Amino acid sequence: MTAATIPSPPGLPLLGHLLEMNRDMPGFLDRTARELGGLSRLRMGPMSMILVADPQLVHEMLVKRPQDFAKSWRTTRLLQGHVGDGLLTREGTEHRRHRRIMLPTLHTQRIARYGEIMTAEARRLLDGWPDGARIDVVEEMTQLTLRIVGASLFTVDDDGDEVFAAVHDFVDSLNAYLLSFGILPTWLPTRTHRWRRASVARMDTIAYDLIRRRRESGADSADLLSMLINAKDAEGGPQLTDAEIRDELLTMFFAGHETSATALTWACYELARHPEIADRLRAELVEVLGDREPTMADLGRLPYLDQVVKETLRRWAPVFLLDRSPVAPTELGGYAVKPGDILFFSPYVVHLDPEYWPEPHEFRPERFADGAQPGREAFLPFGDGPRLCVGNRFAEAEIALVLATLVPRVRLELPAGHTLKLQGQATIRPAGGLPMTVRR
Ligand code: HEM
Repeated sequence: MTAATIPSPPGLPLLGHLLEMNRDMPGFLDRTARELGGLSRLRMGPMSMILVADPQLVHEMLVKRPQDFAKSWRTTRLLQGHVGDGLLTREGTEHRRHRRIMLPTLHTQRIARYGEIMTAEARRLLDGWPDGARIDVVEEMTQLTLRIVGASLFTVDDDGDEVFAAVHDFVDSLNAYLLSFGILPTWLPTRTHRWRRASVARMDTIAYDLIRRRRESGADSADLLSMLINAKDAEGGPQLTDAEIRDELLTMFFAGHETSATALTWACYELARHPEIADRLRAELVEVLGDREPTMADLGRLPYLDQVVKETLRRWAPVFLLDRSPVAPTELGGYAVKPGDILFFSPYVVHLDPEYWPEPHEFRPERFADGAQPGREAFLPFGDGPRLCVGNRFAEAEIALVLATLVPRVRLELPAGHTLKLQGQATIRPAGGLPMTVRR
């Protein structure tokens, strides 16, 4: 059985599936998953990668046998030059130690404190939108979630704009570097490499300065930075060093704002396309909140809002591609796989599996009514297993509170005849942004 060859969709000589992937990666992966199921091999010129499409096999890699599959060396190497050795790039004992230290900083009671920041920043965004304004929702939501993560992590005020501009540039340069696949050695003075060096140096100055100032002041601002500085490992390991805190801060910035911004963008898109869903949501919010702003405590009393958030994360799982690599020769789904093989999977593709989600391309919040949901393996917007997103509760609260602030006060309209083109990189977003008109 394990000698079987992993099937491959028809491709071009030499180029393989490169053109189709460049043209429409989300559509190509969705079609390949439905046609070939389980595992399929995709070729990009000399490189090949294995798409794991069956939700059960993804679950096996992430949850049942995580010790057999590490993050791929390629992804780790691509990320390390920017975020160093943060949670995203660590493995084994050190990964576990850092998670033990970080998790309490993001558990539900702590996040409750960030609720006010989330609502206040959403309100500030809304106040900057005059009636009739044409906005790019991708850009607006990116600025919003950046400010929310920044205010929660650093408590930035006076020097906020400089910090946000630096983080924006840092994340853009990281995305550009990921797209270059790190094929060229980093000492070559390409535009991407020079940009990477400059943006990392700028962020280093800011991060170390923030850490030094916080240590010197001895203040406990009850934000992530203070929590990281004071964090104790429950199993008695050493506290985090400045370099480790720097890596975790940059990791949080990278992992924690584009993802939420993408989810909020898709929520706005679907609410504009489904006025009946937007009306029902608005009615629930007005009934429960009146005209006051939402708090974290309200979220348990807003079941339809919860369904809209979950259906957004299902239909448009923001994190598009993830990967793993076997740590030793093994098998998956009846095929032999070995170290060096890149096994990639996509929450977006898993969430479009019609065996679990009837008419999966339709946006229907009621799928999640009364806690209904197919098996855990079919819904993984935040991954699963030992690498489950540490920001999942933060992100869910953030999306819900931002929507609960915006939806009763504003309607966002898509331009007439708008057509959607997808761009699937680290996250899946509308290519070229999402223009919408504000109706107050
Ligand atoms: C809608 C928003 C978000 C989505 C869809 C999302 C999704 C994910 C996914 C799928 C993973 C797993 C990666 C893997 O298995 O290789 C992950 C990991 C991670 N996420 Fe999130 N995330 C979101 C928001 C956030 C936020 C707000 C933060 C921080 C405040 C955050 C921090 C992290 C970190 C640090 C990891 C690495 C965890 C580890 O490897 O141990 N994420 N996220």
